[in-house]
Amino acid sequence: MTPTRDWLRALPKAELHLHLEGSLEPEMMFELAARNGVALPFASVEEIRAAYRFDKLDDFLAIYYQGMSVLLTRRDFRDLTHAYLRRAHADGVRHVEVFFDPQGHTARGVPFATVIEGITQGLAEGERDFGISSRLILCFLRHLSEREAFETLDAARPHLSHIAGVGLDSSELGHPPSKFTRVFAAARELGLRVVAHAGEEGPPAYVAEALDLLHIERLDHGNRAMEDQTLVARLRDSGMTLTVCPLSNLRLCVVKDIAQHPLRAMLRAGLRVTVNSDDPAYFGGYVLDNYMAMIEALGLDREDVLRLVANSLQGSFLPAPKIAELLAQLHDLGRTG
Ligand code: ADE
Ligand code: ZN
Repeated sequence: MTPTRDWLRALPKAELHLHLEGSLEPEMMFELAARNGVALPFASVEEIRAAYRFDKLDDFLAIYYQGMSVLLTRRDFRDLTHAYLRRAHADGVRHVEVFFDPQGHTARGVPFATVIEGITQGLAEGERDFGISSRLILCFLRHLSEREAFETLDAARPHLSHIAGVGLDSSELGHPPSKFTRVFAAARELGLRVVAHAGEEGPPAYVAEALDLLHIERLDHGNRAMEDQTLVARLRDSGMTLTVCPLSNLRLCVVKDIAQHPLRAMLRAGLRVTVNSDDPAYFGGYVLDNYMAMIEALGLDREDVLRLVANSLQGSFLPAPKIAELLAQLHDLGRTG
């Protein structure tokens, strides 16, 4: 049977690849710009949306860093986080592991503590209001230096009880994982979990570096790993979770056509793939929209979707008993409707 949106909404899902700053909707951008007296180079929400046309990752990143300039106070970060959780709840998301980009804020003079206190408050209130559990992942911006990444890790030290792990994002080409080998080693020493974006635009060799040098526990995107069968076998045999973002891939021209998305091939290759929204305010869809796009374009069936949802739970950093509880719910709900 073809999976329907209502059936899918009811399933307990985890979202493992979501940039909080990428959930900043144009309406909230305007609201915060007015609240904080920040000038935006757009006259209307429609004008902002019209500017969201990208040929590659860097086109998007320029507008993404500009957009986040309206985020200044603890309340702003709290409101952003809470709004995302409200939207995720409407899609039936039960657990989220969210990225944030502190260097996108500290570079503008916003203290690290303001960012993390606001996000942490939003996550706690979101759990209270929507029953969504969470983990927070600090991303280093890979276009910046190793020294700046170390400074960011230092700034995070007083807040480690709120941070589950570190990640690596921003402009990929020319900024291989090897640039951050030492800072990832330091993060692991602190007991942090480690993930990294690799193989979104970068070559398969960047994925191999993320495995060998950063010792990642989860691979964000990983599309281009499909070009190297040895790497595919390695990812499969190690049970590595890939956090794939279909609508992001379409909007950033990682795939030419949604029907050419590699998700089905990844599933058939035995990879532990998951479906995620990346920067939903910029890419035209939250997590359910991403699942539906794949179901419609690739003809995924219920078994495929149940596998993807189970992968999202198994690939999370939740404790094993909690994962088992959610998988049992998934098993029951997956047979109904
Ligand atoms: N930062 C926010 N979204 C990103 C993406 N898709 N790739 C790299 N860096 C990002
Ligand atoms: Zn991402």
